[in-house]
Amino acid sequence: MKLIEKKITKLTFVLFGALGDLALRKLYNSLFTLYKNKLINNKINILCLARKVVKINTFRYKIYKRLIKTKYIYNKKELVTIIKFIKCLYFFNMDFTQITHYKILKKIRKNLPLIFYFAVSSNLFKVICKYLNLNKCIEINDKIILEKPIGYNFKSSININNYINNVFFETCIFRIDHYLGKRQVKNLLNLRFLNPIFYNLWTKKYITHIKIILAEKIGIEDRWGYFDKTGQLRDMVQNHLIQILSMVTICIPKNNPFDYKNIKKEKIKFLKDLNNSFLTVDINFGQYISTKLNNKIFNGYLEENNSNKNSSTETFIIIKTTINNFHWYGIPFILISGKRLKKKLSQIKIHFTKNIFNYDLNNKLIVNLQPKEEITFNAFKLNQMSLFLTNKNYLDSYEFLILEVFKGKQDLFVSKEEIDYSWRWIDKLIYLWKQKNIPISYYKSFTWGLTLPGLTPGTYCC
Ligand code: BG6
Repeated sequence: MKLIEKKITKLTFVLFGALGDLALRKLYNSLFTLYKNKLINNKINILCLARKVVKINTFRYKIYKRLIKTKYIYNKKELVTIIKFIKCLYFFNMDFTQITHYKILKKIRKNLPLIFYFAVSSNLFKVICKYLNLNKCIEINDKIILEKPIGYNFKSSININNYINNVFFETCIFRIDHYLGKRQVKNLLNLRFLNPIFYNLWTKKYITHIKIILAEKIGIEDRWGYFDKTGQLRDMVQNHLIQILSMVTICIPKNNPFDYKNIKKEKIKFLKDLNNSFLTVDINFGQYISTKLNNKIFNGYLEENNSNKNSSTETFIIIKTTINNFHWYGIPFILISGKRLKKKLSQIKIHFTKNIFNYDLNNKLIVNLQPKEEITFNAFKLNQMSLFLTNKNYLDSYEFLILEVFKGKQDLFVSKEEIDYSWRWIDKLIYLWKQKNIPISYYKSFTWGLTLPGLTPGTYCC
């Protein structure tokens, strides 16, 4: 503890959940990219907090090794930059539920504004805020980044958000959804609103249905503890998928269409309409089972590390819904998200109507978010039209969004109201699921999962 006190001169970033999956997979990499490109102050000090007892040098070495393993190391100069960055990291083991453990923070914080990153389960958000506050660790301009999903349902998310609002100003709260930082998602409104062809065709008159798929090839692996309490609906649909759906369906704001305040207002209108469309929903839930691929056996969900063999948590979900508003009335939206599917694919597919002579040309616009960033119309590649996509030195989603927090820009973060309405819809889906008594189905790993009546599995993907 003394070591930290002595060495930290300018504390700027405090990371709760420093040894968690998110921090290890994304956050250190993102902070390092910003550091390397001099987008954040090179005097940054990052206090990394986690429950596990680890010596600071062991911790630093662990992060060093991870950074070396990623794309960042090209030459000796970069190695030196990594070493400098690693020295900005301080580790402190802490039980977030113990009030006395927060004293260190009060001692080492200077007058500089801090950014707190809560990369932990949202069960802990309230207690961390409470003890930060009681220990007088928070000052007026401090910012806080909250990871999704916030809460487990509408009630718990309201409860958490209200609590945080008592401690931080709304203008300092950044509810992150990293899909909003992905370039193709940022590009969607440009595609829709700036291009007269798509602007005019983007209506129920010319569209027959829309599919959005967020497929992952990876399974749950070591994340059972988090995932089993969450499930795919709360992990991917409540946030990422609903956000993309909003961007695909919102109306163009009447004034200043690219002002995010106006866009957020349109998103809320859309989310209210989505909630009113509840009766037209059809769903199916599934769990992956083991499979043999290239002579290797891959575990099913119930065989993963630390699993509980009776779990009925879903790793796959398919939803068919309509949106009860003037613009989209009657148009089916098919939303799919799953783990251990055939391949990684995040994609939006807009299917257009037959032509006036009733020929079905199967016209479709495909927006690929990842792994490939690409837009095609009937297999013809379209040039990307975006301010974001022309920049060669682009930042990935976490890098971009963390930098936005440093700049204090909330445009691409999710408002409390958006979260409220997303949860209301998710709660209704779960109610429907329970009411219909639909048992969980099983799907083989590395397939396209399950389907709904009238849809063939896999036909929703290209
Ligand atoms: C996270 C989910 O929000 O997104 C993970 O919690 C998921 O379960 C991840 O694996 C997928 O993100 P990406 O950017 O790899 O598609």
